[in-house]
Amino acid sequence: MLFFSKMICIVGAVVLLFSITADARIGNSTEPTSYCTETEECLLFDLICNGTEYEVRHYEAAKWVTTEEKSMFKDVAIMKAFKKLFNYITGENEAGVKIPMTAPVLIKVKEEMPFLEPAVYGLSFLLPSAYQDNAPKPTDSTVHLEEMTDMKVYVISYGGWMVGPVSTIYADLLKKALDNVKATYNTDYHYDAGYNSPMKLLNRHNEVWYVVSGAPVCPHVEHPSPSSPAHLSLQKPED
Ligand SMILES: *[C@@H]1O[C@H](CO)[C@@H](O)[C@H](O)[C@H]1NC(C)=O
Ligand SMILES: *[C@@H]1O[C@H](CO)[C@@H](O)[C@H](O)[C@H]1NC(C)=O
Repeated sequence: MLFFSKMICIVGAVVLLFSITADARIGNSTEPTSYCTETEECLLFDLICNGTEYEVRHYEAAKWVTTEEKSMFKDVAIMKAFKKLFNYITGENEAGVKIPMTAPVLIKVKEEMPFLEPAVYGLSFLLPSAYQDNAPKPTDSTVHLEEMTDMKVYVISYGGWMVGPVSTIYADLLKKALDNVKATYNTDYHYDAGYNSPMKLLNRHNEVWYVVSGAPVCPHVEHPSPSSPAHLSLQKPED
């Protein structure tokens, strides 16, 4: 068994090496329940496992356009960074082309924040499939193209607006759930993932991601309990 799983790992690694230039999984989501509704293309993933507290997903490597901004206030940094990336996709690039918006938009947030000093935040837009392998160079030197490696992430979702304090609450909730099951993850940073434009008022969807390190730990599956109204429909009728 061990031999075979080692062989599979080696074959997997070789396949990975040769597939680095293959298309990342970006496209039209066919899931009827998808929250990725505002852009033509989204980053697709494989669901490894799911529970009430968090999901575990696998994302293949993909190319993004990224910039960093520094501020005392997260929302100020993100606004400035958003303007720079928006300029890139609306023509501030060497080819002068307009590039369609995609989802999600990722914000990279360091876990250790300097006390009473400005902090650096990263913002990334996913490049659409047509630009994955030939994205034009940004003309703004503070904007750069970046490949994010293949990764597994722990995900918690929430509605409403992804303002600074709210996303921190959900990051803490996810961290607590992961620590409870002794899951290991990258503790240097997390991502806030946004799927909606500010114009969308209802059914907004946001996420917090922690990057899995080591083997992913699936969430405990909660068994339906008679006291929980959410599960009433699962109860058998009384004899
Ligand atoms: C994406 O899927 C939706 C729903 O199935 C469909 O209406 C739309 O035309 C598709 N868009 C593309 C670009 O394939
Ligand atoms: C995971 O489960 C939750 C409910 O527990 C559900 O809302 C969510 O859509 C599921 N995620 C996926 C990708 O199916």
